Amino acid sequence: METFRISVLVSGNGSNLQCIIDAVEDGRIANSKIVGVISSSENAYALERARQHEIPAAAVTKYEYADMRDRMDAILKILDGEHPDLIVLAGYLSILPAKVVEKYRGRIINIHPALLPKFGGKDFYGIHVHEAVLAAGEKESGATVHYVDEGVDTGKIILQEKVPVLPGDDPQTLRERVLEIEHKILPEAIAMIEKARH
Ligand code: GAR
Repeated sequence: METFRISVLVSGNGSNLQCIIDAVEDGRIANSKIVGVISSSENAYALERARQHEIPAAAVTKYEYADMRDRMDAILKILDGEHPDLIVLAGYLSILPAKVVEKYRGRIINIHPALLPKFGGKDFYGIHVHEAVLAAGEKESGATVHYVDEGVDTGKIILQEKVPVLPGDDPQTLRERVLEIEHKILPEAIAMIEKARH
């Protein structure tokens, strides 16, 4: 069977990238290879994680490519060279240019640290999601893996799992509880897609 080619987009620490690397290496995601990592930030630790595993890694930043079209072309050029079967936004905190979504429609997924459709959209990313969940007095939160469409966090849901919000939680403790679930459902979702490819 042909290798399932995965491109990963990141912005920061890259713990979700790491859980994909681990799942590919230990066979939970079968017949696959991470063919490249693109970061929206030059200083992302995720780039270091990629290099440690000899995965080609590049940064395409707003500073280097101030014009959105140039940034889009740079991302597309790298992705097109990687021939991905699946593009995973794993803690990618920029909005993916529409042309990329159009070209790879149905082959891009995102992990979001909340129970979509709640707490999704352009202002909800990273720690802000957990701040908003706590401010709203929610009793539960969770993580969602979904397909990416032209909207922000609006595409079809693939997997979702809940965690409780506990008395005394702050954004950091909630973030950690949700992150554990992210690291579980992201490789599961990728494995499901890989299995269903034919
Ligand atoms: C994760 O919690 C991910 O769900 C979130 O950023 C964090 C990145 O952590 N993504 C979003 O908020 C997207 N809207 P990581 O760099 O350790 O994977």
